[in-house]
Amino acid sequence: MTQLQTNPQINTVGIDQISFATSKSYLDLAVLAERNGIDVAKYHYGLGQELMAVPAHHEDIVTLATDAASRVIGEGKRNKISTLIFATETGIDQSKAAGVYVHRLLGLREDCRVVEMKQACYSATAALQMACALVARHPKEAVLVIASDVARYELDTPAEATQGCGAVAMLITAEPRIAVVHPEVGNYTEDVMDFWRPNHSKTALVDGKFSTEMYMKALVNAWNYYQKNAGMAFSELDHFCYHLPFSRMGVKAHRKLCEHVQSGLSREQSDAQLAASLEYNRVIGNSYTASLYLSFASLLDHGKDLAGDNVAMLSYGSGCVAEFFAATIVDGYQQHLHSDIHERSLLERVALSYEEYVEYWNYPDPVDGEEVVIESHRHHKGPVLRSIRDHKREYAIN
Ligand code: COA
Repeated sequence: MTQLQTNPQINTVGIDQISFATSKSYLDLAVLAERNGIDVAKYHYGLGQELMAVPAHHEDIVTLATDAASRVIGEGKRNKISTLIFATETGIDQSKAAGVYVHRLLGLREDCRVVEMKQACYSATAALQMACALVARHPKEAVLVIASDVARYELDTPAEATQGCGAVAMLITAEPRIAVVHPEVGNYTEDVMDFWRPNHSKTALVDGKFSTEMYMKALVNAWNYYQKNAGMAFSELDHFCYHLPFSRMGVKAHRKLCEHVQSGLSREQSDAQLAASLEYNRVIGNSYTASLYLSFASLLDHGKDLAGDNVAMLSYGSGCVAEFFAATIVDGYQQHLHSDIHERSLLERVALSYEEYVEYWNYPDPVDGEEVVIESHRHHKGPVLRSIRDHKREYAIN
């Protein structure tokens, strides 16, 4: 809050509402560990993951996005939304933006622009920054930013335990009730092949160790540029949210940053600065571009009395693009959270057996235009993928 009060020039645009959604089923990593003959401690401590969200046939980036966004557009905000930016790296179509389906399912106004953005796990941050710029230009309007992804790696690979899925929706306005997003940023881009997904593949290819190295390098460079661009000092930042392909990555990244800035913090102090932000990711898994904002949602729902606190955000998308920026939590933010719904949605999830998980994982989309009615949709309330017919996906709200 200090910087907000002392610097009248700071832009006040930011996050007015935030909510997430994930699949209704999950795989306990203890089940995967037993199946693969691996000590479960590797998953629990080595990766920092316990459960992995697994989408059923009727769930995808559109249904998750619609579910998350349905909570952030209430209270008379729906008609203020002039743009919907949908960030994903697991698009369902090479041409049509997934957000167009969401636009219809949410009943947004017809003079709302909709577009899809991609740059691995980074694109939601580009979407957020562009949304802030649009709102700064037209302060009476709101922009809906949705990050939604299904993280998929091949079965029986080291990356298998780092799958997951989720969507985070954020409403960006000029009078935000959750957090003001600061305009100062530090970016870093380098052309590398640490993680990618060719058009012919339904699963990502990843050089996991190299990706971790690139993440660290990009973090340090983004931080250095953030400092060069008049960003806050390390000591002014109260909490840290990281892109979390697995939650242990955030712990490692933060220790690296502490070392880089010579913070003088002990490991316990350093780990405490991000503990609350890891909770959701530990039980959902990777949600690619949504993961940083799931980490922020976790901090909001689990952190104690954050009003006035400065939160650092590190966005990393393989390939690679990174961004370091910060936000300040607004007074009274607690009244605008959806913490109870989030907690309930996680508690109500169904645990899958290994065989059910593999069945979900293998479920093929028809490639010849044949009609497939997705029977599982009949047992679920909310947004669902009902069928695929003539190569067209048919969504509805049950
Ligand atoms: N108890 C506790 N920890 C254990 C353990 C045990 N029994 N067995 C292994 N571990 C630890 C290892 O020491 C290691 O920790 P460290 O990294 O701190 O050294 C960690 O578990 C991972 O094990 P390791 O064998 O090194 O890695 P892996 O071959 O299983 O692969 C990833 C791990 C993360 C590289 C792999 O899951 C991956 O590629 N995931 C995808 C990552 C991604 O999405 N990147 C792109 C976006 S940023």
